Amino acid sequence: MANMKVYFETFGCQMNKLDSEAAAERLLADGFSLADGPDDADVILFNTCSVREHAEERVYSRIGSLKWAKRRRPELLIGVMGCMAQKDGELILRRSPLVDIVCAPRQEAHLAALIAQARNGRRVLALDDLGRRIERRTAPRGVVEVAPCDDGAFERQGAARPSPFQAFVAIMLGCDNFCSYCIVPFVRGPEQSRPAGEIAGEVQRLAASGVCEITLLGQNVNSYAGGLPGLLRRIHDIPGIERIRFVTSHPKDVSDELLAAMAELPKVCEHLHAPAQSGSSSVLERMNRRYTRDQYLGMVERAREIVPGIEIASDFIVGFPGETEEDFQQTVDLVRRAEFNQSYIFKYSPRSGTRAAAMPDDVPDAVKKRRNSELLAVQSEVSARRNRAMHGRALDVLIEGPSKSDAGRLSGRSRGNDIVVARCASAEDASELTGRIVPVKITNSTALTLFGEIEESRPRP
Ligand code: 5AD
Ligand code: SF4
Repeated sequence: MANMKVYFETFGCQMNKLDSEAAAERLLADGFSLADGPDDADVILFNTCSVREHAEERVYSRIGSLKWAKRRRPELLIGVMGCMAQKDGELILRRSPLVDIVCAPRQEAHLAALIAQARNGRRVLALDDLGRRIERRTAPRGVVEVAPCDDGAFERQGAARPSPFQAFVAIMLGCDNFCSYCIVPFVRGPEQSRPAGEIAGEVQRLAASGVCEITLLGQNVNSYAGGLPGLLRRIHDIPGIERIRFVTSHPKDVSDELLAAMAELPKVCEHLHAPAQSGSSSVLERMNRRYTRDQYLGMVERAREIVPGIEIASDFIVGFPGETEEDFQQTVDLVRRAEFNQSYIFKYSPRSGTRAAAMPDDVPDAVKKRRNSELLAVQSEVSARRNRAMHGRALDVLIEGPSKSDAGRLSGRSRGNDIVVARCASAEDASELTGRIVPVKITNSTALTLFGEIEESRPRP
């Protein structure tokens, strides 16, 4: 499609960012180019998230804000990709007359053809046949629906990668856990693991192109079918790779074998993102998480024992149906005990089709808000204390570039995934150090950031 410019606006998780990159690569290969912003785009593709209602509202309001642009330039095409596309399908075309294209995850191979049809004035729909559509609805008249395809969900070329030295690699798709609040199994389908040889091949290509940090990605990475510890070992041997991370882990599947592999393999970072979601066993049971509060705390204890210096991060949902003040205080207590370096906290949002949506959403919004900010305050206190304990220590930091808040300083991440901001001598130094791992002596901190001085720069290998 000569000369057509596409702009991606991506919402939601890392998997979505990766999907946008992969879709961009496909379109580049088909002769499209990437626009610098929405204003110079011929096609704007929203890659969307369904995990909370708020994320969906934001997408509709962004689409609505293009009303005038579309009136001015009727040839401008608007598409919705990602989880909302699979969840709501036809409904999106009904709800927003501005949308021309709806394309579900794993159907990105259709995108070029969908754009061509939309250019001819058709409204088009490509959904995945997951057998788990929440509800089948009829499409508005005149909509063309293409049959699902099943190709290259994992395939990546790397042409649209945002960083030259860091990369995400999808190792599995979908989820079989059916936590009662979660829409993911419905929109992303059943778990599907990628063959280890294919993953190793991609990591090898990435390493050859200058990538030193790999993050293995999956909704549930530690239930990788071939075994995550074995996969970590296999990737560990690839020259050029200096750091390996993996997200997100389900607490019930954090095995001693996985922890032992983390301890044993020097390239695997001491960083575990294992969302607890709640500190109350009765809430966890209703969430269908399949672990109790004590089992979670036991997992944290084992992790700290087996992997010295491990940093654990968590997610929490406050205001789940039936969550009492006592349940919530158990969550507060768990945050204090587990000593996470970071927690992401969300207010419960009912998602239709999930089991929890049938339970009364009985915690008033004001209470959800209060619990959200209370838990955030407790986590900040914990983070600040943990960060203060780092003062005086030297941490290995992969420098990612100039700090956003102060261009005179450099920003990067420690092995534990903490953000570290470091002073550097000169601008030349800054560009020289970007993409390298350097020791930074921590001198100061807030709850969210460690500050320090670069100790010495190691010669480039
Ligand atoms: N409401 C609020 N938060 C949710 N999450 C998942 N589903 C919901 C929901 N229905 C949160 C969980 C998950 C993170 C990605 O989003 O904490 O770990
Ligand atoms: Fe959102 Fe989940 Fe989809 Fe990621 S997989 S975009 S978190 S709904």
